[in-house]
Amino acid sequence: MENVAGVSHYGDYKNVEVFEHPLIKHKISLLRDKNTGTREFRNLVEEIASFEAYEAFRNLPLMDVEVETPIEKCMTPMIDGKKLTIVPILRAGLGMVNGITNMIPTAKVGHVGLYRNPETHEPHEYFCKLPEQIDHRVVAILDPMLATGGSAISAVDILKKHGAKKIKFLCIMAAPEGIKALAEAHPDIEIYIGNVDRGLNDDAYIVPGLGDAGDRIFGTK
Ligand code: PRP
Ligand code: URA
Repeated sequence: MENVAGVSHYGDYKNVEVFEHPLIKHKISLLRDKNTGTREFRNLVEEIASFEAYEAFRNLPLMDVEVETPIEKCMTPMIDGKKLTIVPILRAGLGMVNGITNMIPTAKVGHVGLYRNPETHEPHEYFCKLPEQIDHRVVAILDPMLATGGSAISAVDILKKHGAKKIKFLCIMAAPEGIKALAEAHPDIEIYIGNVDRGLNDDAYIVPGLGDAGDRIFGTK
């Protein structure tokens, strides 16, 4: 990935970019606040996802198509190829979907259901439904949290098993442990991160983090 303003590479990983934009940093700080309620939390996750998508999809291929303006016909660029696919990891990834479909209304949406075992922190798959011809599509996996990296690695494994080749992973917050694990397990994907936090606690939660993203998005605690 080329380096552009607004993002920086993480460490020596050429495939990991961290957002530096002040709007993203500001909104992430609001997400951290335990007094931020469900409605605001959801809105913030959506807004951050939109900003991230704007950057993460900057290298989508274009092709010239003919359009007739009120003045004359012209050739003008539009996104080429099969419809982009986004794949939220259930549950928390769902919170990022609208932020991206607001910008890319024609995007297909697949779903991968994974939950972390609270004791072992290992991911378990419980659902997978993907659009057809996934091998011809750019696929962006969405999950606000990259903690140990287990869920993200498993989601990429599942997508690759179904034939996906061009994969991006978009998250809002990540621990260094999860970045290392994902970047090393799947060096061929692009990883976009809103903020890198300090690390993980004994329950494998990101610190300082924002708590349980799924519970905060869906108001289940
Ligand atoms: C959370 C989060 C990620 C995962 C990250 O999901 O949304 O999917 O944990 O942790 P990891 O990097 O250590 O795998 P969780 O399993 O809590 O499920 P939920 O979204 O249904 O709450
Ligand atoms: N999942 C979450 O929702 N939060 C964390 O901090 C880690 C995993």
